[in-house]
Amino acid sequence: MRIVTSVSAIQRLALQWKRRGTPIGFVPTMGYLHEGHVSLVRKARERVGKRGVVVVSIYVNPAQFAPTEDLANYPRDLPRDKKLCRDAGVDVVFTPDDEQMYNRTGVSPVSLRAEQTGETPVPPGFSTYVVEENLSRGMEGESRPAHFRGVTTIVAKLFHLVQPDVAVFGAKDFQQAAVVKRLVRDLNFPVKIVVAPTVRETDGLALSSRNKYLSAAEREQAMVLWQSIQLARQAVRASRKAIPASRLKSELKWLIETRPAARVDYIEFLDPETLLPVARVKRGTHLALAVFVGKTRLIDNGRL
Ligand code: PAJ
Repeated sequence: MRIVTSVSAIQRLALQWKRRGTPIGFVPTMGYLHEGHVSLVRKARERVGKRGVVVVSIYVNPAQFAPTEDLANYPRDLPRDKKLCRDAGVDVVFTPDDEQMYNRTGVSPVSLRAEQTGETPVPPGFSTYVVEENLSRGMEGESRPAHFRGVTTIVAKLFHLVQPDVAVFGAKDFQQAAVVKRLVRDLNFPVKIVVAPTVRETDGLALSSRNKYLSAAEREQAMVLWQSIQLARQAVRASRKAIPASRLKSELKWLIETRPAARVDYIEFLDPETLLPVARVKRGTHLALAVFVGKTRLIDNGRL
């Protein structure tokens, strides 16, 4: 397995692979890898086969964190990540630093925002962003302004560098996957986006690098996200008629907030294609939710 840290080296490799007709599979991550990430690697390998290459990027992208968020504390363990990648049969791990990705060191979301609002002048390093204007508006986009701008920008950059034929994303970040698919379609990236199912703990909690922040008591209560999805699914399947979204929403909010550490950020019932909220919930409606458990913000989603 090869470790690549510079933009020029990954570009050179991608060009070589392209010239030789080697299929390229790609899994972008922010590291602190878990079985969810590994499942994406397996999917990528399935798609490109033995003669293809699988690239994993590990980069904690400052542009997708708000100034108040956990960029500085985001869990990191590169040696462990490399081992997991090696064991999973990854060919190349791309781990650039901020200097490589944004032409400057130690980019913080505070400085990125100050530049954007004009509080400080934009330094010469970086000033071009890719923005999706529709699917990224609600839910994560509303709770975390500028988050998706950071995601679409870094994903576009990574696609240019790695030139994947296939890129695999997790259903755990349902809205992110939808936004990335739209980015690819709108800007004509020659890449197939594959969305892989959410990998869960035995009690249903979706694996996430952020689960590490949870205390034992919070970890126990974090189960309520999955319980909410299951409860909504049962309600929809047991009912002959569509259920008013407002009613189901307040029931779920009540269920969640009986857990002392849990506070709902949003609960949305959506059309799975447009991601627009629906008034009536039925089979096939998508449920997406974000819940603070203590200080940790967790998200989950599922088709009902
Ligand atoms: P990160 O949170 O590290 O996630 C990387 C990929 O792993 C995403 O596609 C995410 O949906 C997927 N993933 C996370 N947990 C999963 C689980 N339990 N089951 C299945 N897949 C899971 O998402 C990002 O990083 C970043 O926004 C990124 C796309 C890398 C851009 O910076």
